[in-house]
Amino acid sequence: MTVITTIEDLRVLYKKRVPKMFYDYADSGSWTESTYRANEDDFQKIKFRQRVAVNMEGRSTASTMIGQQVAMPVAIAPTGLTGMQHADGEILAARAAKKFGIPFTLSTMSICSIEDVSKGTDGHPFWFQLYVMRDRDFIERLIERARAANCSALVITLDLQILGQRHKDLKNGLSAPPKLTIANMINIATKPRWALGMLGTSRREFGNIVGHVKGVENMGSLSAWTAQQFDPRLNWGDVEWIKKRWGAKIILKGIQDVEDARLAVESGADAMIVSNHGGRQLDGAQSSIEALPAIVDAVGKQIEVHMDGGIRSGQDVLKARALGAQGTYIGRAFLYGLGAMGQPGVEKALQIIHNELDLTMAFCGRTQMDTVDKSILLPGTFPQ
Ligand code: GLV
Repeated sequence: MTVITTIEDLRVLYKKRVPKMFYDYADSGSWTESTYRANEDDFQKIKFRQRVAVNMEGRSTASTMIGQQVAMPVAIAPTGLTGMQHADGEILAARAAKKFGIPFTLSTMSICSIEDVSKGTDGHPFWFQLYVMRDRDFIERLIERARAANCSALVITLDLQILGQRHKDLKNGLSAPPKLTIANMINIATKPRWALGMLGTSRREFGNIVGHVKGVENMGSLSAWTAQQFDPRLNWGDVEWIKKRWGAKIILKGIQDVEDARLAVESGADAMIVSNHGGRQLDGAQSSIEALPAIVDAVGKQIEVHMDGGIRSGQDVLKARALGAQGTYIGRAFLYGLGAMGQPGVEKALQIIHNELDLTMAFCGRTQMDTVDKSILLPGTFPQ
């Protein structure tokens, strides 16, 4: 077996080990996938300034996100269906994040429930991502469940009150658990590790939802369910309503536009995530790394700005940090590790990113995260 040294190595192994339906769910964007690709490609255009003969001893990638200490400015992003990529996936990823000293964000659309993750990490605080659904009683209960589980921040996703069209998911008839069609059974038969894991767990449905929303025993396809349950009327008033109920740290996810960034500041949130949902919602939108600098310019002094989208290496983390992101999030990069090898795979992904971040920072002549700024980048190669 090849020695795993990159996130791409993990992706290749992940593709071999996880059923096509779930691989496709992670590794795809909406419509032509142009924004999904741009998120990665635009990082490649940015060049570093190499500095030499600078003392590189005593380096640290430690930083803070919303005032919390982090071993590096990277959090695990909320990703739906993570427990379908690997049995008990959310618990395993949360354990890896805890061990590494970075935040883990649990998606509303997770397989393991809020309570499962809390129990599986001995009550260690994590962040909870909230989707706003039509059933407000359910949302109130969800907020209370997050509080009871010791969640230290609520991440409100603002860019998915309707679902971007993802051709692969529609063609695959994506659902959790997977429907046992002939094509799915033939594919699953070639993924024995995955299947054994799934047989060994009882967590195969949306743990935060099934049994908690009236009338939802089974969710059918993801796209049909989202259309039925997610609230298309979501607006800034809802953010206010949630903020009041939650009364603790709030991070707004899905900001791409300077005007929305200003509204996010007005809402009183603690941080915002410049994000296009990994290119899964509005295809044709700007890449996140391109959108970042103008937003940092406009509101960076008033609110903490984070970003996600396209981060596949520690070098990408450093570029985002240099352009003003106090924190970044990895979605696919950790899913590749999880699907490939479970918890050790997520730990591997985090080690790879940390190592790349640490070495690149040093080559740019810096030893501490808070001294990283635009001056480590080559003028003319980065977005303004
Ligand atoms: C959910 O967040 C998705 O992008 O599928």
